[in-house]
Amino acid sequence: MTDTLTIRRPDDWHLHFRDGAIMREVVPYTARQFARAIVMPNLTPPVTTTELGAAYRDRILAAVPEGVNFMPLMTCYLTDTTDPDDLARGAASGVFTAAKMYPANATTNSAAGVTNVENIYPVFERMQAEDIVLCIHGEVTDHSVDVFDREKEFIERHLRGIVAAFPRLRVVFEHITTSDAVDFVLDAGPQVAATITPQHLHINRNAMLVGGIQPHNYCLPVAKRETHRLALRKAATSGSPKFFLGTDSAPHLKKDKESACGCAGIFGAPYALESYLAVFDEESALDKFEGFASLNGPAFYKLPVNEETITLRRAEVAVPPVLEIVGEEIVPWHAGQMLGWKLD
Ligand code: NCD
Ligand code: ZN
Repeated sequence: MTDTLTIRRPDDWHLHFRDGAIMREVVPYTARQFARAIVMPNLTPPVTTTELGAAYRDRILAAVPEGVNFMPLMTCYLTDTTDPDDLARGAASGVFTAAKMYPANATTNSAAGVTNVENIYPVFERMQAEDIVLCIHGEVTDHSVDVFDREKEFIERHLRGIVAAFPRLRVVFEHITTSDAVDFVLDAGPQVAATITPQHLHINRNAMLVGGIQPHNYCLPVAKRETHRLALRKAATSGSPKFFLGTDSAPHLKKDKESACGCAGIFGAPYALESYLAVFDEESALDKFEGFASLNGPAFYKLPVNEETITLRRAEVAVPPVLEIVGEEIVPWHAGQMLGWKLD
């Protein structure tokens, strides 16, 4: 039995840092484990311009603890009125690593998102020409579509069209939750990849709805039925370069999750590697973990792999039931549970 695992330092290809005091307290949880992270732009107001992206990056850098090597990779929030010239400038100057498309009102802070995907085809055209990565929240927002079908429906209504119209555009289908998404990504060319969160590898929708409503297992896209979870586990641990780590860590205060209208989002950052590693261990795929966590993402984003290494050891880790952040409570992913691996 393997009891230690040393791999190149990983990166988190999808997370939410928020801003202000909360951001300053959550950044260290990520920087402790990851060398880089793709930072989502859904602030209020959203990060829609190069100027806003550069300022947000500087606020994050100021929150990185002394002596820790961590680089935030910024994304531009696409809207109906995104200026392709500004986006191209932001990418060329190294401020933006990617652009993020939220269908309007698909999730937390997405009201300014794109109202009609086809409206921003001119921006996609420019992104393809400049080789800027497109990160997509792939859910339709049509109220007549069942929430459990919104990802599958997005593939049929929009994603196939985008990928066909822009065959050289690099697309990350973010936080996939269905076997339909896995199949779509596998069938597409090498320019299409996906991130997978720890929660979607661990839980199905029962964890949200059985035995009373469980708001801390609620995120978007929502966890689906067991067949989908199994398809995601197979994809993540398969060794395919198309799938890589993206926690979608999305902190909300405990009181905002335990509310009559609870927020979507799971704070996965604090024990992210330990959480993923539990899955790879259960699937007897520890040898595939470095690819998923540290190699496939940089290859897709055309960035160098990290030279540093980290070591994880088999050891019991008790996840606290709650973390105190800005004098408030935030419930971490795996709250109150024991995990079997520990980061040195
Ligand atoms: C995210 C958030 O809170 O910003 N919530 C979530 O459930 N994942 C937004 C998102 O990525 O959908
Ligand atoms: Zn997210």
